[in-house]
Amino acid sequence: MMGSTSAPNEVDASTAEPMASPMVEIRGLSKLFQGRRHEVLALDNVDLDIGRGEFVCVVGPSGCGKTTLLNILGGLETATRGTLRIAPPTGGRPQVSIVFQEQGVFPWMSVLDNAAFGLAARGVGRADRQRVAHEMLAKMGLAHFERAYPRELSGGMRQRVNLARAFANDPEMLLMDEPFASLDEQTKLLLQEELLHVWEGTRKTVLFITHSLEEAVRLADRVVVMTARPGRIKAVVPISLERPRDVLEMPSNPEYLRLHAQVWEHLREEVLAARGEDMGGTPQ
Ligand SMILES: Nc1ncnc2c1ncn2[C@@H]1O[C@H](COP(=O)(O)OP(=O)(O)O)[C@@H](O)[C@H]1O
Ligand SMILES: [Mg+2]
Repeated sequence: MMGSTSAPNEVDASTAEPMASPMVEIRGLSKLFQGRRHEVLALDNVDLDIGRGEFVCVVGPSGCGKTTLLNILGGLETATRGTLRIAPPTGGRPQVSIVFQEQGVFPWMSVLDNAAFGLAARGVGRADRQRVAHEMLAKMGLAHFERAYPRELSGGMRQRVNLARAFANDPEMLLMDEPFASLDEQTKLLLQEELLHVWEGTRKTVLFITHSLEEAVRLADRVVVMTARPGRIKAVVPISLERPRDVLEMPSNPEYLRLHAQVWEHLREEVLAARGEDMGGTPQ
């Protein structure tokens, strides 16, 4: 399989069939930032559907507009052009919960209160929210740290608290912006495994941004590769690895290695293009 140049299961972004009833439908989305000295076209004509229950990872070089895309989906930023449709939430759920790379935990709150925060904000009663938060913390291996405060935790544990809060909040969709980027390799692997484990139990729709293609291939149902700025969708690669997945075994899985090589082929050019710009290319 390795070394094969044809990519039979790859989908050309421009000809991909639209989904019947996607959770998210993005059409012709562009974002132009008005900087002080010049404008920056962060996103250029992005089309993407995300299916209900799908785990989509977005990779692309630094500065290509990944965070901008996530912020537009999360309602933190507005698009300059194009349309975004997200299926309306059901059953009183919030539409999205966002997990960022850092921040997110409140230092003055216990781990349990942090994990229950989204539910408290929605007016869920104390007993119920503590029960749900407790359940999620236990799944994230934090059952014994509920009374602890964030300063007593490692970076990896704090990110577990963030994940527990996001899942406890029970949103229609989870948006994650490089949540593991600042963690060491081993911690990252463990958190990826725990994230998949919790996700298997809920099958929430996830949009997960990362600059790590290893992470993207381990986690995703589909990997979306973005171009160097202005961010466009360069390719969408379906990840056919069976679930549940064992991320610790991935490096020896030939199918994983094949998909990794396939995604890298797309990403490589864009990383080089982004580097060219850093080294003196014309700013957009
Ligand atoms: N609020 C803003 N004002 C001006 N430019 C911005 C703003 N936010 C992001 N940008 C620019 O938009 C581009 C994409 O940024 P971002 O979405 O953060 O990229 P990524 O997350 O892929 O690294 C970058 O060139 C960045 O400098
Ligand atoms: Mg970013």
